[in-house]
Amino acid sequence: MGAKGLEDGRNTFKDQNALRDLTVLGIETSCDETACAIVRGSGPGPGTILANIVFSQLEAHRPYGGVVPEIAARAHVERLDDIVAEALAEAKLTLADMDAVAATAGPGLIGGVMVGLTTAKALALAAGKPLIAVNHLEAHALTARLTEGVEFPFLLLLISGGHCQLLGVEGVGKFRLYGTTIDDAVGEAFDKVAKLLQLPYPGGPRIEQLAATGNPKAYALPRPLRGREGADFSFSGLKTAVRLIADAGDVRPADLAASFQQAVVDILTDRTAAAMARFHAEFPDAKAPALVLAGGVAANGAIRSALGSLASREGFQTKIPPPRLCTDNAAMVAWAGVEHGQLGLFDALGVSPKARWPLAGTPARGEGRRAG
Ligand code: KG4
Ligand code: ZN
Repeated sequence: MGAKGLEDGRNTFKDQNALRDLTVLGIETSCDETACAIVRGSGPGPGTILANIVFSQLEAHRPYGGVVPEIAARAHVERLDDIVAEALAEAKLTLADMDAVAATAGPGLIGGVMVGLTTAKALALAAGKPLIAVNHLEAHALTARLTEGVEFPFLLLLISGGHCQLLGVEGVGKFRLYGTTIDDAVGEAFDKVAKLLQLPYPGGPRIEQLAATGNPKAYALPRPLRGREGADFSFSGLKTAVRLIADAGDVRPADLAASFQQAVVDILTDRTAAAMARFHAEFPDAKAPALVLAGGVAANGAIRSALGSLASREGFQTKIPPPRLCTDNAAMVAWAGVEHGQLGLFDALGVSPKARWPLAGTPARGEGRRAG
């Protein structure tokens, strides 16, 4: 992974930077958002977002009911230069004012990751600044430090269209994988169920809206892996059960949406409770540690409130970054750059983009489909 490390020269940089605020430009292109942000700060945060530009390609992908990799890569190429210029203008800064340039280097759709990382390399080279290759999942994980200065260690529940993981976050680059999906990501399940109910993409928000008027007990649906050892997730059996009901006809959409959402809430609550027990056992000294929710699905009100109640019962404080920082953005990438830069962790210009890049443990089937 390039020149990451703490050799002598880097230790000097580390010492110089350890206590100083760093200003980092970040680029995110791993899925269907083209984004650039500039963030200033130092760990544990909170940091200051000086610019945060996100261009969503949603309209380009909507007709296909999901993200089309080729369309995404082309759209990143078309928009990224302007978005970088817009971010610098909004922050009233130039590249010369940056301490480093950071970009998502994976996991994600490889065409898009290549566009962002190559652009970051060119900017770093042209301005004589160090490069930081950021793991997109780590960027999601560290966002609660950018927004609230959350201390290590904390428990992270990352729930998005591409990922569903429970991680113990001990420090920058230090993760313990407690659970991951063995099939679909939770957002993917929302999107597929929405499609079955003929709702437009992305389906999560529509399902939530519809569920508000339905009866969550109307349909009996399975809760795969509930009560099982470990903290892994599975959603494909739930999705299939919904499909069988939808195929049988004469469906009450609001009741089915509410029953599906309730099943998801029950699964997430059960698996998170298991991860909390493990976290308490592994970090007995952590007093009132944070449960951080990240990813687009964390916007769901029913999920937020169920996990919030679980957290207060189990001695955790719930921290949920605001929605625009829960979904894909470049401020989280720039912030991950700040935290890496303070530790003297930089990358060589030859660093490669990666479609798969698990934070910890072995990736399960279904992970890495696209960026979280
Ligand atoms: O993190 P994100 O913006 O993008 C990636 O997955 O990369 O997450 C998008 C996912 C979609 O699957 C979407 O349906 C889901 O988050 N989502 C929701 C809600 N808002 C977005 N799922 C359930 N309830 C919501 N309110
Ligand atoms: Zn993401």
